[in-house]
Amino acid sequence: MCGIVGAVAQRNIVPALLEGLQRLEYRGYDSCGLAVIRDHGLERARSTQRVAELAQQVQLEQLSGRLGISHTRWATHGAPATHNAHPHFSGNPPRIAVVHNGIIENYEQLREELSAEGYVFESQTDTEAVAHLVDSLYQGDLFEALQQACRRLVGAYALAVMSSDEPDRLAGARYGSPLVIGVGQNENFLASDALAIAGTTDQIIYLEDGDLVDLSTDTVLIVDRDGNDIDRIVHTVQAHMAAADLGPYRHYMQKEIFEQPRAVSDTLQDIDEIVPELFGAGAAEVFEEIDQVLILACGTSFYAGLTAKYWIESLAKIPTAVEIASEYRYRDSVPNPRTLVVTISQSGETADTLAALKHAKSLGMPHTLTICNVATSAMVRECELSFITRAGVEIGVASTKAFTTQLAALFLLAMALAKSKARLSSDRERELLRKLRHLPKAIAAVLALEPQVMDWADRFARKENALFLGRGMHYPVALEGALKLKEISYIHAEGYPAGELKHGPLALVTEAMPVVTIAPKDELLEKLKSNIQEVHARGGELYVFADADTNIRPENNIHVIRMPEHYGMLSPILHTITLQLLSYHTAVARGTDVDKPRNLAKSVTVE
Ligand code: AGP
Repeated sequence: MCGIVGAVAQRNIVPALLEGLQRLEYRGYDSCGLAVIRDHGLERARSTQRVAELAQQVQLEQLSGRLGISHTRWATHGAPATHNAHPHFSGNPPRIAVVHNGIIENYEQLREELSAEGYVFESQTDTEAVAHLVDSLYQGDLFEALQQACRRLVGAYALAVMSSDEPDRLAGARYGSPLVIGVGQNENFLASDALAIAGTTDQIIYLEDGDLVDLSTDTVLIVDRDGNDIDRIVHTVQAHMAAADLGPYRHYMQKEIFEQPRAVSDTLQDIDEIVPELFGAGAAEVFEEIDQVLILACGTSFYAGLTAKYWIESLAKIPTAVEIASEYRYRDSVPNPRTLVVTISQSGETADTLAALKHAKSLGMPHTLTICNVATSAMVRECELSFITRAGVEIGVASTKAFTTQLAALFLLAMALAKSKARLSSDRERELLRKLRHLPKAIAAVLALEPQVMDWADRFARKENALFLGRGMHYPVALEGALKLKEISYIHAEGYPAGELKHGPLALVTEAMPVVTIAPKDELLEKLKSNIQEVHARGGELYVFADADTNIRPENNIHVIRMPEHYGMLSPILHTITLQLLSYHTAVARGTDVDKPRNLAKSVTVE
């Protein structure tokens, strides 16, 4: 998604802006740009290449200045082309510059009005309408003009704005898209996330929806949606630097896959008893009151939710529905006020999930809980209860450690709900906690299978399609495996419950179709073996991840990698890791941009 970095300082801020853009590259983008005020005039450089190319251009054109804004763009309105890249200017000669993340829904109406006033549009973006709108309202006070402009905007935005007439002032606004202030020594920053400015300051203010901000080198003024001056807490944010370091790994995705033992262990902390308060104060009363669970999420987080349904219904016997957030928010549903609405999100800023959460609340379901990796995110602020996963910053667009830590947290939730409904004996609680504590070691043992998976990946890299099969609680793992493969290797892949094969997808099976099969040693194993035979009999090539003692042996067209141990209810967490490795090495063999796959963004802050 689009990324913003802006700065007002007493030094040349171009290097800090470029470093910030580089730190935001992980979010995904297709063009980038930077503007500064120099000698009371606006200057900019824009590129449809990577930030490194923009840096060269900036050097060539010798751009420098003490006030500047910059942007990585993920195209929504208008193709990824230089004229659509931000910053957008308005005025003749230009005097207003704007960068934006979000979508202005009424931009067509604004465009018409502003065109009638004589403004000429040079791009197809919704953002240019904001630049012209601010210019049309500007009477020497940038903050005032931005305040008035925001009253006219419908949609979602994080904005950073500057005027050549006020070379010591940076203004910003947030509604629906993330924006933070970085407080420095005689300099202040605006950015899409704290990571962008981690090289410069660790003093971060998280803006709330509706906030507007007026920055100079030594002042920070924040005004809330009602126009009142407001103090927001300054957080000291750590650990971002380490996350940006690749260490011995080739890609962030590989690094993050191998961080999973640590990430899961940090997420589980040293929990030695399941208590509702793990999910926040007041959880005990909420858990007692609810008789239904509704999980809302997108993408990989949705698959975490699907897995949790098996756990919650099995352990706590509470009916659980799992819905894709972007669908739920637009369909007629039947609300039950005794529902626990659970959102799952790595970033905590996913626009669809946030909107679905607000929709659920508006339907009269007040009990909300989020499983989220970012403690300061909008999702956490919107929910009554929360559990923060401790995956650490995830930079690769493909979610790995965020997923397994979500699963660990959801398993704790299933246990907590079961306990509050008196459906978890203390023996069972102890046994499951023992399993959870051993999980980091079990994950490490699965990671040791990497060389075997790499052998498969070379063969996989030549395929254009793949099927992933799982049964029961491993069906969501099959879906996640397929998503991972298509996301980073661009191989078309589908996940199916193995029992569904003969109802359609079997028609696809030929020697050209690899069929990845998850074979845990559970009560569905014998049925799964029959499914394997259905594929084998039709000349399909099977790649089976089989638990020990399953008696699935390699033979012609059946390749087998043996998992170290069967892990009972927590088995989906282990099986997902081999699929991450398979996708990762297949993508490496195909030479794709693993950490920044085409067309995708890390956190999807627009609808
Ligand atoms: C997973 O690999 C994805 N890139 C994507 O599906 C992601 O899980 C989804 O966009 C939801 O993001 P969130 O967890 O930050 O809400």
